[in-house]
Amino acid sequence: MILDGTLDASVHAAAAALQRGELLGLPTETVYGLAADADNDSAVAQIFTAKGRPANHPLIVHVADAQAITHYAKAVPLFAQQLIEAFWPGPLTLILPRLPHAAKASTGGQDSVGLRCPSHPVAHAVLRACQVLTPPVWGVSAPSANKFGRVSPTTAQHVATEFGDDLLVLDGGACEVGIESTIVDCTRGVPVLLRPGAITREDIARVCGQRPLSKEELQANTPRASGTLLAHYAPNAKVRLMPAKQLQSALDLLGADGTRIAVYHRSALTSASQGVHLRAMPQQALAAARELFGTLRDFDEMGIQLIWIETPPETSDWEGVRDRLQRAAAAG
Ligand code: TXA
Ligand code: MG
Repeated sequence: MILDGTLDASVHAAAAALQRGELLGLPTETVYGLAADADNDSAVAQIFTAKGRPANHPLIVHVADAQAITHYAKAVPLFAQQLIEAFWPGPLTLILPRLPHAAKASTGGQDSVGLRCPSHPVAHAVLRACQVLTPPVWGVSAPSANKFGRVSPTTAQHVATEFGDDLLVLDGGACEVGIESTIVDCTRGVPVLLRPGAITREDIARVCGQRPLSKEELQANTPRASGTLLAHYAPNAKVRLMPAKQLQSALDLLGADGTRIAVYHRSALTSASQGVHLRAMPQQALAAARELFGTLRDFDEMGIQLIWIETPPETSDWEGVRDRLQRAAAAG
């Protein structure tokens, strides 16, 4: 059931559902989440079941404000505090050392916890309402509301399509950011960028006074992340990434019937076979991120079998979009 998330009554119904241990489709500024009380292990177990997600892929815990960190994390290094001041509420997740009894199932028992304070007004209202319940719900675990490995949802309808009418979904409109939050590991003494997003490597460097390391620069010791598996974000269609020139040659070589092919391009194309579905990607990285997942879903609905996508620019602002497209291409 989809409820209007801007109504107080919906927000309170949603908070009460979370307190009872039920699941909720929650809008955030990045993507829609499949939410549950972070400290209710059986509610959290339902998230893993509904998504088909392996239990060793930890979930992000969403909090109403920076103070709520004290319920989950035991040490916040200076650079993490700087990131919180600069970017919360917003599309940034911090991995911090976990308090022993907090969010056990959510974190798969790891000694760290991923925390994020979303800026979406509906998410914020729900988290606030959760805090004043008796007993309070201090944090809400919410992975993207899609089946494991599939394209993340950016509208309430995407969530309802994925999980059916029984799930309560708050409608908060189309997501502003469109790709998942940037994740920075703050447990290694220096910032480590685990997942690129709208907050860029440069943004982090500017605020912390040090460039974040990449995962590759640091040896990992635990399996960390669905969002970091290579083949992920997969539409039904096969995705291929190509530079503009190669894209044009592929189109020139194509035979008469291109009806099952979609081309998502930024450069002007000189020609395309009949039937090929052309869609222009926005020139700005933030705008491209906003519509990325919805576009992949549209292509699936149209019965497209092949999606040819122009490789995005190599610059830092495009890193999040590049990352999601590379994973989508690796899946097929
Ligand atoms: O934008 C977002 O972050 C969205 C919205 C709903 O807030 N949520 C989201 O959650 O993307 P999910 O579960 O799809 O991605 C969680 C990511 C995974 O890559 C996971 O490994 C990482 O966060 N993560 C969570 N806790 C972690 C931890 N303790 N250590 C390392 N990585 C962690
Ligand atoms: Mg996800």
